[in-house]
Formats: sequence, structure tokens, C-alpha cells
Amino acid sequence: MLVDTHIHLADKEYLEILDQVIEEAKGRFKSIIVSGIDYQTSLDAIRLAEKYDFLYASIGLHPQEVKGLEDLSWISKLAKHEKVIAIGEIGLDYYWDEQYKEQQKELFIKQIEIANELGLPVIVHSRSAHQDTFDILKEHKTKGVLHCYSGSLEMAKEYTKLGYYLGIGGVVTFKNAKTIKEVVSEVDLKYLLTETDGPYLTPHPYRGKINRPIYIEYVISEIARLQDKTKQEVEDKIYNNYLELFGGTSEEI
Ligand code: NI
Repeated sequence: MLVDTHIHLADKEYLEILDQVIEEAKGRFKSIIVSGIDYQTSLDAIRLAEKYDFLYASIGLHPQEVKGLEDLSWISKLAKHEKVIAIGEIGLDYYWDEQYKEQQKELFIKQIEIANELGLPVIVHSRSAHQDTFDILKEHKTKGVLHCYSGSLEMAKEYTKLGYYLGIGGVVTFKNAKTIKEVVSEVDLKYLLTETDGPYLTPHPYRGKINRPIYIEYVISEIARLQDKTKQEVEDKIYNNYLELFGGTSEEI
């Protein structure tokens, strides 16, 4: 069974194709985690997850939404919902501007603390902020996944040493994506998870189109090729990794 640990399925891009996307994923996916980036989108993620048994929600404040020291009390409240299985996406993003760098760090740490109090894993976004993200996750230990991992192999090894998982998506199928291919071939399969990050980062040969969970088949194929394993082995192992991080460890695969 497949898993998609990160998708913005409640976004407007999916409105018209949602039924089709759900239908094609049914029976093939054990779990799809719909991610919010602020209060409203987190609520949207929960509402969508309520409708389908294999959909779950992850809630949190994305670093790009940080415009000061925001109130985070809604996170603990919404997290009580039975469909909320992670805090995210949260993290650091210095790509567009560094104006709120300090606030981003503070709110990232606060959300890690909330996740730890609730016993939930975190789904981490890191863009142009690899070292700061790593330093925070090293100092503020938690369990979680580096969503759409885009760092170096050296850093990947450091993360996995600390027990963090790496989210692998469509980028690994791109011909010129040397670094992530290197990461996927070198890192132990027990630290890898699959995701779409839809609507973006659609794998080859659908690059440029709206991303859909079912395209994770292409990500699995590429991981299998790089790891020199069968697709079934990769699929089973990644599902097992999913269970270890997001719970349900009693379930047999
Ligand atoms: Ni995302």
C-alpha cells in the first residue's frame, strides 16, 4: 500500500478534480496526509480528512505565513481532532525574505514544543535555511520528517542519525536532480517516506501538470532503481516507516 505524507489537497487547484483524485487513490493508498499552512487551511484539511477514511490532516503555521509573533493556541485545540496525526507544515523559509527570520525560528520551536506535548510528529519545511533548520531540530529533539528533502547527502546522514525521516517526492524523478538521487541511493531505506507536495513538484513524465497521489508510483520506481530493490520491497518498507512515525505500529503489513 502507498502513502502520501504531504499534499495540499484542500487547495483550490484540486477543486474540480478532487473526486477523480480520491477515486484513483482508493484501495491503493493507506494514507494521504492533507497539510495546512495556517489556521484556515488547517481547518480545511481536517474537514476534507473527515470525509474519507484514508485521509488524515496535518496542521500548523508555515514559515511563509509568519508575519510577526502569531498566536498559536488554535493548534493545540484543532490537534484534538482524531484525524490530526501531525503538526506541519512548519519550519524555516528564507527564500523570499529574511525579514521575519527570528520570528520564524521562535514559532518553529514553539510548534515543535506543542507537537512534543501532544506526542505528534512534525512535518518540516526548509528552504534556503538548511543549517538553521538542522540546528533547531538537533537542539529541540522531536520525531518527524523533512518534507521534500532538498539538502546535501552529508546533512541527510546527520538527520537520519538523529532519527528523522526524509520525504521524497517528484523531484527524485527529474533527470538533473543529482543531489537527491545521491541521497536516496546512499541513505538507509528505513528513513525514507513518499509524498507528492501537490499541487506542485509533479514527477516525470507528468512534470508541469497538477500533482496527484497516484503519481507516487513513479517516485517508488525511482527509489527502487536507486536502492537496487524491487518496487514491492520499497513500497512495503515505506509503509512500515510510515507506521513507525505516524502511529499504528500494531498493524501488520
Ligand atoms: Ni507543502
